[in-house]
Amino acid sequence: MVAVVVNLFLIRKVHSLVEFTNIKCEVVDPDFCNFEYCFLKSVNRTYKYYVLKVNLYKTPVTKVKLNSAIYKFANGYKPFMYNVTVDACKFLKNPKSNPITGYIHGFFKDISNMNHSCPYDHDLVVDKLSTQFFNDRVTKILPFPDGKYLVQMNWIAYDILRAVFKIYFVLS
Ligand SMILES: *[C@@H]1O[C@H](CO)[C@@H](O)[C@H](O)[C@H]1NC(C)=O
Ligand SMILES: *[C@@H]1O[C@H](CO)[C@@H](O)[C@H](O)[C@H]1NC(C)=O
Ligand SMILES: *[C@@H]1O[C@H](CO)[C@@H](O)[C@H](O)[C@H]1NC(C)=O
Repeated sequence: MVAVVVNLFLIRKVHSLVEFTNIKCEVVDPDFCNFEYCFLKSVNRTYKYYVLKVNLYKTPVTKVKLNSAIYKFANGYKPFMYNVTVDACKFLKNPKSNPITGYIHGFFKDISNMNHSCPYDHDLVVDKLSTQFFNDRVTKILPFPDGKYLVQMNWIAYDILRAVFKIYFVLS
């Protein structure tokens, strides 16, 4: 039964499209970090991308955890899949060790300067996470049903929540 449902999604999702709707970067601890910029740029109707830059004030950062979860909209954003926490420093030494985080990491590894293991002693930049790139990964690699989604990432350093990053998108 589960396999049938998954297959139906696989067949149906080949033509689906991702539309970015919003990005939110929330600083929880302004003494630790700040978002120098964080925005969604629409070049034209088909080409949109995200850029963001994080300033780190307490470098080098040697202990980072990333808690990620996916929400789907139904009378508010409800947990949809996963709520996993990984030790980012350990994970980045071996990105294949956790498949879900590996999947999320795939969105950022080639377009950010975060793709090395700890320590982090520089500002963090994500340069142009584009709709098309996102589309390819969401619809061809992990098919989801249509709807409004939120991917939330809680960035935790030294066991304290420092920043929250949210990407909102619609799949149709
Ligand atoms: C949108 O902008 C991108 C990047 O500049 C360009 O490659 C593409 O052809 C443009 N598409 C349309 C429909 O204008
Ligand atoms: C995961 O679940 C916990 C407990 O409900 C919650 O505090 C946390 O914000 C969730 N993580 C994300 C990334 O939404
Ligand atoms: C890290 O990202 C840079 C681009 O910012 C890329 O050139 C490099 O290949 C990436 N390294 C890994 C290990 O993915």
